[in-house]
Amino acid sequence: MTAATLAALIATPPATQPWTEPARYWPALGAATAQLDPVFATVHVGALAHNADRLVARASGTPLRIASKSVRSRPILDAVLALPGWAGVLAYTLREALWLAQDSPGRPGITDVVVGYPTVDRGAIRALAADPALAARVTLMVDDVAQLDLIDAARREADGPGATELRVCLELDAGFDSRLLGFTGARRSPVHTVAQAEALARAIVGRPGFRLVGMMAYESQIAGTIDDPAGRPLYARAVRAMQRSSRAELADRRAAAVAAVRAIADLEFVNGGGTGSIESTSAESAVTDVAAGSGLFGPHLFDHYTAFSPAPAAAFVLPVVRKPAPGLATLLGGGWIASGPPGPDRLPRLEWPTGLAMLPREMAGEVQTPVSGPAAAALRVGDRVWARHTKAGELSEHVDELVLVDDDGVVGSVPTYRGEGKVFL
Ligand SMILES: Cc1ncc(COP(=O)(O)O)c(C=O)c1O
Repeated sequence: MTAATLAALIATPPATQPWTEPARYWPALGAATAQLDPVFATVHVGALAHNADRLVARASGTPLRIASKSVRSRPILDAVLALPGWAGVLAYTLREALWLAQDSPGRPGITDVVVGYPTVDRGAIRALAADPALAARVTLMVDDVAQLDLIDAARREADGPGATELRVCLELDAGFDSRLLGFTGARRSPVHTVAQAEALARAIVGRPGFRLVGMMAYESQIAGTIDDPAGRPLYARAVRAMQRSSRAELADRRAAAVAAVRAIADLEFVNGGGTGSIESTSAESAVTDVAAGSGLFGPHLFDHYTAFSPAPAAAFVLPVVRKPAPGLATLLGGGWIASGPPGPDRLPRLEWPTGLAMLPREMAGEVQTPVSGPAAAALRVGDRVWARHTKAGELSEHVDELVLVDDDGVVGSVPTYRGEGKVFL
């Protein structure tokens, strides 16, 4: 399916929300995809439309920048970008950004791609510096003069120093030292204070060949940290207390850092936040766009936030291939484990039929996953089990395509990055 057709399908959120009744939703998805041979992954277009609409509503008018790592399918990125409320991409590698920004037959490149993480890929830097059209569309992330040095060394081989001006974004660390939980945050940048941000901004503008166009600060301890973990009420209270304090601290520090840097450079954008923090990040007047990606697919990590609950738009299907004992069934595949601190929450969640459990000594396996539980006895060879990944974009690394479904059947498919022969991380 083309991005334009998909954009039309997801332009309006559906009147009904079938996923709110799991006992109908998952069997309906099963019927809709009965002709397909598992293993495959699906995206429900109604749920995707609902999620995209909710994310925009939560941002209260602040544009959303789509976090591509949480999607990893070019037609879906293009389709969401065609919706009101969305503008620009937050990419995860420079090679990816160049690919997304490049015009190709029938697909105009995306004109605003910020690489959300620093790059030391000299070949990709050379390619960027050698192409002024791409250099006008792609913005590099920096938090250290050492990165500027590396970029300069790489591009000296392409165009001589400074011939093509490269757009850069300064990353401010958004971490928070919590009294209750210790340091929280993703250790993203050495630039933490206003004075450090100011000093790096001066270093960038004083250097030929770079244009400081943006700032970014990602508060992972709020946006990416669940505040309602199942069965851990005390920990949940500590997390929520930390998040309240962190929000207040960051709002002040971000506003001051942005003001200080704006006095040095004409910033086009200030990005922050993610799916889990849209309300608070968009409420800060210093922020001009908020990143969001995971909330589109609604992976199961996002079942545990108090402020919002995305529809389970993305899922995958594993077939039952054998019955090692009457009370067990063995699924093909299943070991699609998410990144992050290892633990049970990184395992796929078995959604349907309900009442299935992985075996503690096996869990989700490389090639097979035995399951027990009340529903396992009833499973027969050839039956299917529906599952959801913990995270959003990592699902796309396991399949060539995402099958698009609605309540009545399969409506098409779109390639993942992998399906287009692209693996970036
Ligand atoms: C820089 C940055 N911004 C935003 C996000 C949030 O993305 P999502 O909306 O998929 O949680 C992330 C995720 O890790 C990120 O690294």
